[in-house]
Amino acid sequence: MKKASAEDKQVLRECLPLVIERMQPMSERFFDNLFVLEPQLRDYFEAHLGRGGMRFVGTLTTIVALIEDEESLDRSATALARTHETYGVRPEHFPPLGHALLVTLGEILGSEFTRRRCEAWRRAYDMLAERMIAATGHHD
Ligand code: HEM
Repeated sequence: MKKASAEDKQVLRECLPLVIERMQPMSERFFDNLFVLEPQLRDYFEAHLGRGGMRFVGTLTTIVALIEDEESLDRSATALARTHETYGVRPEHFPPLGHALLVTLGEILGSEFTRRRCEAWRRAYDMLAERMIAATGHHD
């Protein structure tokens, strides 16, 4: 399976602090955007919306951390896929979540969300989503 390029890793490492700085507004916009795209996903997050900021930034920091550590990428993606199965997450939920992430980053970072950054986030999200989906439903 694909791995992130050194350049993408560098771009994401630089961008992450901007995201962390704007955690609260990003998180609010993220959930608004997600529920417009996929209203039924509201049920999955209802119990967790109070700590939405943590969850949103947690996803992004997890993406950056996981693509950095290639040695354990498969193991981590599998573990994440397992917890997500217990939340009832299905493969078709990944595209709207990825879309909402990119739209939100664009809204909040504005001109700082360069094309280069957008591509790096998209590739990293898609790569992880692909691995998590591949690991879903396969139990040893
Ligand atoms: C690349 C894709 C994704 C990444 C990296 C990711 C990452 C995470 C992380 C790090 C957590 C914290 C708790 C844990 O480790 O299980 C989490 C929780 C959660 N994720 Fe994901 N996630 C992804 C995709 C999705 C998708 C597609 C859904 C669709 C509904 C989803 C729904 C949830 C829910 C409901 C929780 C638990 C509730 C919460 O903490 O708000 N995730 N995710």
